[in-house]
Amino acid sequence: MLWGSRFDKQFDKTALEFSSSLSFDVNLIEWDIKVSKAHANMLASIGILTSNENDQIQTGLDNIITNYNKGTWKPDKNKFEDIHSAIEEELTNLIGDAGKKLHTARSRNDQVITDVRLWIKDSCKILIKNIIDLQKSIINLAEQHAKTLMPGYTHLQRAQPISLAFHLLAYVEMLERDKKRLEFTFNSADECILGSGALAGSTIKLDRNLVAKQLEFSSVSRNALDSVSNRDFIIDFLNAGNIAMMHLSRFSEELIIWTSYEWNFIKLGDEFTTGSSLMPQKQNPDIPELIRGKTGRVYGNYFSLLTVMKSLPLSYNRDLQEDKEGMFDSFETLNNSLIMMNALIGSLEVNKNRFTKEIDGSFMLTTDLADYLVTKGVAFREAHNILGEIVKYATDNNRKLNELSLEEYKNFNKVFEEDVYKYLSAETCLENKKTIGSPNLQMVKKSIENWKIKLGIN
Ligand code: ARG
Repeated sequence: MLWGSRFDKQFDKTALEFSSSLSFDVNLIEWDIKVSKAHANMLASIGILTSNENDQIQTGLDNIITNYNKGTWKPDKNKFEDIHSAIEEELTNLIGDAGKKLHTARSRNDQVITDVRLWIKDSCKILIKNIIDLQKSIINLAEQHAKTLMPGYTHLQRAQPISLAFHLLAYVEMLERDKKRLEFTFNSADECILGSGALAGSTIKLDRNLVAKQLEFSSVSRNALDSVSNRDFIIDFLNAGNIAMMHLSRFSEELIIWTSYEWNFIKLGDEFTTGSSLMPQKQNPDIPELIRGKTGRVYGNYFSLLTVMKSLPLSYNRDLQEDKEGMFDSFETLNNSLIMMNALIGSLEVNKNRFTKEIDGSFMLTTDLADYLVTKGVAFREAHNILGEIVKYATDNNRKLNELSLEEYKNFNKVFEEDVYKYLSAETCLENKKTIGSPNLQMVKKSIENWKIKLGIN
């Protein structure tokens, strides 16, 4: 135990079991070693350690991580409260008295969160890379489907025709925002708090900038009390995870719908679907269903930490140990979901002409026809009424819009001309769009080109 001498009795075994974080903070081992090495170098630079002692500490810490990775050293869960104390004791076992100097002017309160900050920075980088990989896959798919028509929906009712490429590009935009939130999180974690001590710094003149420099933090925190209490950047990390999972979940939901017999729009690769133990014909989209399902636990992790934080007095309280499990879990869940979504996108086959016939001459084109009337001088509200009447007439007569004759159109308003049919075909409906950000075929192609440049696809 790190605090032995003041106590008459050993810490209770069940209390240790209850309070130990070792089973999960062992994930921080690599970062904890780095932090200790930087701290020891700094202690040597200000004369607290001799250079010989520092050398012993550096070698001892290197050996600990090597032995851990080889499996020849395993921190004992029945003995230690956390990874920090396990490493400190192992160091003293390995190198003797020099090991006892490592914790000078340091508390686990500033140590643990320095580790976490480094872990978050690395995790943001990994997630950003996997987001970019997913964006690339989506762009590759979009490129093949600039002309694949599908209904665009509002209220899950067919609204206006769009292309699959246009639909997919919406997800590329969402992922781009997810990346920005992770960049923001990276920056909020990018501050070195080591040297804050338990809560009030140290009487020893630590060179905090030297520690920050070695650990590649871009700045040093200003207030020790805040430094050991602050978990905002973990909450930012969890929230970046919330929103990214929400995006992946919406995408999953659409993939699930599109694979249904009723939609019959896409097929997921056999290698990513499962069968039923009872119904021989079934092919189930379990992977997107699980991504959708796992979104719940990620939201839960976020809310859990926010709740832990809400009434903590300054500064460190042991409640703060509850910050880690959800953080690891959200990272794993989001990272695996990004990887699986990427694999799904690569595996899917699209039934390209599924909607072409249905869109040709369909009521989904009535808004474009109202625009047509407006360009012929009819007021929009009147055009809307006229189109309402036309839809009613066509429905009653069981006909599509391109099956009505020009005579019939002229009965509704004489401004209709032969060129009305240009607005009614599946062939031309996307070409007719003019606004920036619309599914206009050329604009979508241009947008795909721009993404390819931005994402470095050649
Ligand atoms: N396991 C602790 C945590 O994760 C480390 C810090 C312990 N500090 C303390 N004063 N008991 O928060």
